[in-house]
Amino acid sequence: MEKITIAIDGYSSCGKSTLAKEIARELNYIYIDSGAMYRAVTLHLMNKGIIKDHAFIEEQALQQLANIDIDFHFDSQTEKSETLLNGVNVEKEIRSSIVSREVSAVSALKEVREKLVDLQQKLGQKGGVVMDGRDIGTVVFPNAEIKLFMTASNNIRAERRYKELIEKGENISKNDVGADLARRDHIDMTREISPLSKATDAIEIDNSNLTREEQLDLALKYINEKIELAKN
Ligand code: DC
Repeated sequence: MEKITIAIDGYSSCGKSTLAKEIARELNYIYIDSGAMYRAVTLHLMNKGIIKDHAFIEEQALQQLANIDIDFHFDSQTEKSETLLNGVNVEKEIRSSIVSREVSAVSALKEVREKLVDLQQKLGQKGGVVMDGRDIGTVVFPNAEIKLFMTASNNIRAERRYKELIEKGENISKNDVGADLARRDHIDMTREISPLSKATDAIEIDNSNLTREEQLDLALKYINEKIELAKN
């Protein structure tokens, strides 16, 4: 059967990765989390002391790019994909709010985007991929057979992210979580290169009032229509 490419974009904490993983499991496709790559680059720059006091010198950051190797490892026992930064599993660290705070500024750099888009396109070149991010339908796979654009109300997104961080043991207020989301959305939408935007041919899904099952059913309905079309 023809394997298509599924692009999922949207704001931070809209449930993109939850949906993307479930779709991949359902269709036996590969899931690729492009945000994890931007997070891994950010973590590397933090570990090297290049990001300090919420700022960095661009030239120093770019010099590091050649030293950054990003890969994914699928743990068949936990059924989870883990991000490897220069061979080291950094899955937990890249999800912390400290990395979240810095990642949008790093992902606005042209050279960073070029490196990661290239990697994303290589990983997805054979199709059978579900990739989520901010520019997947617009830049990485403009010819993807299906593009979904996820939205949810600001309040619901802040609530979800807050719960996630508290469950991970972080000590953070809901207000701070909301403010960080708003700040990241702003940087992601207004940056010069590949800003977050809905592709003209993307289907918007607002999941503010949808359960996980309802969201998955809706997405699969759209996707199965495209898979049928791709067969003909
Ligand atoms: O999806 P996420 O929250 O893990 O993404 C982290 C950051 O990476 C996000 O604030 C913007 C950036 N990003 C991007 O610019 N382009 C992508 N395709 C994915 C993520």
